[in-house]
Amino acid sequence: MDGQGRSQLQMAETGPRALESLLGFWAEAGVDTAFTDEPVDRLAERIRPPPPVQAAPKAAAAPAGPDVSGAIAEARRLAAEANDLPALAAAIAAFDGCGLKFEGARQAVFSRGVDDAPVMVIGEAPGADEDAHGQPFVGRAGKLLDKMLGAAGLTDRVFITNTVFWRPSGNRNPTVQEQLVCAPFVERAIALVQPKFLLLAGGASAKAMLQRPEGILSLRGRWFDWTSSDGATTLPALPTLHPAFLLRQPAAKKRAWADLLMLGERLDRPERPVD
Ligand code: URA
Repeated sequence: MDGQGRSQLQMAETGPRALESLLGFWAEAGVDTAFTDEPVDRLAERIRPPPPVQAAPKAAAAPAGPDVSGAIAEARRLAAEANDLPALAAAIAAFDGCGLKFEGARQAVFSRGVDDAPVMVIGEAPGADEDAHGQPFVGRAGKLLDKMLGAAGLTDRVFITNTVFWRPSGNRNPTVQEQLVCAPFVERAIALVQPKFLLLAGGASAKAMLQRPEGILSLRGRWFDWTSSDGATTLPALPTLHPAFLLRQPAAKKRAWADLLMLGERLDRPERPVD
């Protein structure tokens, strides 16, 4: 290509229509807010180092990626100190060990629902609406979740949270490291709420909570045991399809509905007396 052709191409690539199209592309991908005036190259940026901690216990798993064992130890320490849900919410809000907090999230998003609910719903990560309101599942997907829980007789019987507590930029899935760093808080929430069952909404939640490699279409509708990191607590956990997926694939709603009915049936099944 000659010099003139190249400069015409550059003009076409940077003209107002190209900019409009690029902005449209980012908006489609969920990037709808500018947090700073200057662009930040996240690929060149290293994850914020975790605060120094004493003698970090070994992380349960060591996936490829940044070493987050110090942040996990700090999260465990803070979570263990929280004796009730408001204290846990405050500990999460004050925690600086998860890189998501510094990607532009407005606030920590912890939970909503009933404090001693028999079912804990664990989603993937807050989105834009949750980031704005400070509560999980309050956007379109949350409204669908509420409708389905209501239809299955589970309204007022759920406590709702996520595997991570800050909105990932661009609505990407949280990384394994981000989920590992937040896991001690999720586990503490389970210890404080003491649900009978976990409902894991979406593949990123099911994989993180159950440490299983299969996709959600294979995991959903089957009961698994979730076990706490100290091995002391085991709970039945049911993976199901994420409501955001159901908004895109309405034909899959019947499978999620079958999962909720299965959960409701088990919840209301009379407990067998202990001999
Ligand atoms: N999707 C999730 O997984 N969690 C939310 O809180 C909202 C949308």
